[in-house]
Amino acid sequence: MAREGIRFRRCRREDLYPALRLVLRSIGDLREKTGKPPVPWRPRAAPAFAHHLFSTDPETFLSAWKGTRLVGFAAAIVRGKQWYLAWLFVDPRLQERGIGREMLRRVWREGPGMTHALGTFTYNQHAVGLYTSFGMLPHELLTVMEAKTEKILLPKAPAFDASSEVRRGDLAWIHRLERTIRGYPHAKEWEFWAGDEEFRVLVFRRGGRRVAYGMIGPRGEIQPVGVESARDLRAAVDASILAAAKLGKETLRFFCPNSNRAIYGHLHALGFRNVEMLVFMTDRPYGDFSRYLPATLAVF
Ligand SMILES: CC(C)(COP(=O)(O)OP(=O)(O)OC[C@H]1O[C@@H](n2cnc3c(N)ncnc32)[C@H](O)[C@@H]1OP(=O)(O)O)[C@@H](O)C(=O)NCCC(=O)NCCS
Repeated sequence: MAREGIRFRRCRREDLYPALRLVLRSIGDLREKTGKPPVPWRPRAAPAFAHHLFSTDPETFLSAWKGTRLVGFAAAIVRGKQWYLAWLFVDPRLQERGIGREMLRRVWREGPGMTHALGTFTYNQHAVGLYTSFGMLPHELLTVMEAKTEKILLPKAPAFDASSEVRRGDLAWIHRLERTIRGYPHAKEWEFWAGDEEFRVLVFRRGGRRVAYGMIGPRGEIQPVGVESARDLRAAVDASILAAAKLGKETLRFFCPNSNRAIYGHLHALGFRNVEMLVFMTDRPYGDFSRYLPATLAVF
């Protein structure tokens, strides 16, 4: 069998950094094959967020080994009735031998009403084909849009009061709202983001009433953004950009769902440009992209 000699075992915490390096190697190989420049990120340790996901779902973090070499990494998280594939990567030298399919089979979870989803690269027909064979279909295109802060035509301050003093009531409000606009709440991630100083959770109020939220990550990622009313999404985007600029972030980045043409056009007009094309795949459609811009693809 083509995957003969490959050993699978649950990840240990110390596997996370080698796993991240494998992820970057595998993405680098895919980018090179499709004529894109290399990924400029060279982390020296696994990010705290990867440790967070490992802590919540250690049983669905899986590694594949050839001798002492890590050659495959898969990680899935379960949040209520939502199963989500955070990462699946195979060493470029060992792809197309059944390792990815076997890892996906092992981290897959079923249950009454369980849905399954992930985000991946539009231009990797191999990955899209694999996921389709598990019943997950392309549901939404996501454009990663990026701009240097100094080049952005900074928007006018919207009529929101921004607060980064996030209380329990604010998080409870976000979870309730995300049940509708995202499809499923993911409280564990918000607990993490609100408690880690590298992340800035913002709650926006108008006339004292909560209307929107945004989250700014360490590398200038503004992900996610959510609103009660679709009318406020653009203002929430603007308020988040201003807050990120004030924090001194050099580059800002959004996941823009392509179906939201108004936000796409707005970001483009401010100076944001497309740097990556991704696809959200699911076996049961969810997410109201007139009111939600996704978080990191590891959790959506
Ligand atoms: C995507 C990836 C994880 C798959 O792992 P892998 O070990 O190479 O994949 P497998 O050999 O187990 O599975 C191959 C499956 O891909 C699908 N596939 C491959 N080429 C395809 C094509 N041209 N059209 C449609 N489906 C295709 C098939 O379903 C095939 O399974 P089958 O041979 O049993 O029918 C791996 O290739 C990888 O790391 N790629 C680069 C990074 C990436 O895109 N990761 C996904 C991020 S979420």
